[in-house]
Amino acid sequence: MLSRLHAEKLALCDLLEAIADSLPQALNREQCLAASGKLEPLLREVHAYEEGVLFPAYIRAQGNAQPSVELVARLKAEHIEDADFAAELAEGLRRIGQGLDVLNVDALSYMLRGFFAALRRHIANEREAMAPLFGAKG
Ligand SMILES: [Fe+2]
Repeated sequence: MLSRLHAEKLALCDLLEAIADSLPQALNREQCLAASGKLEPLLREVHAYEEGVLFPAYIRAQGNAQPSVELVARLKAEHIEDADFAAELAEGLRRIGQGLDVLNVDALSYMLRGFFAALRRHIANEREAMAPLFGAKG
């Protein structure tokens, strides 16, 4: 489950990177709309699974040790930041995908890069931390 969700998130990061690379000249509106529609539902699904199933299992497996509790608190805080950021990005991508004016394409491109870089970091940290839960499969 986690592998599938992380794979979907990483695929979304790749799509966002492709969009950022395409701005402004080679803009693909379909791509922008696809990413816009996917962003928030995917993050909601991933966060719900991680916070409802994965993190509690991780804390239990760590015997409620303080560092594990703190790590999960940090990951949850990142989820909130990512969700806020995703909402803004989804709106920007929707506007650009529908051919509406975007206030500043450079700013959107910058936001996209900041977002997928942070998501990739988050996924890597989460994978590393949760790996013991999945044994050799990591
Ligand atoms: Fe996460």
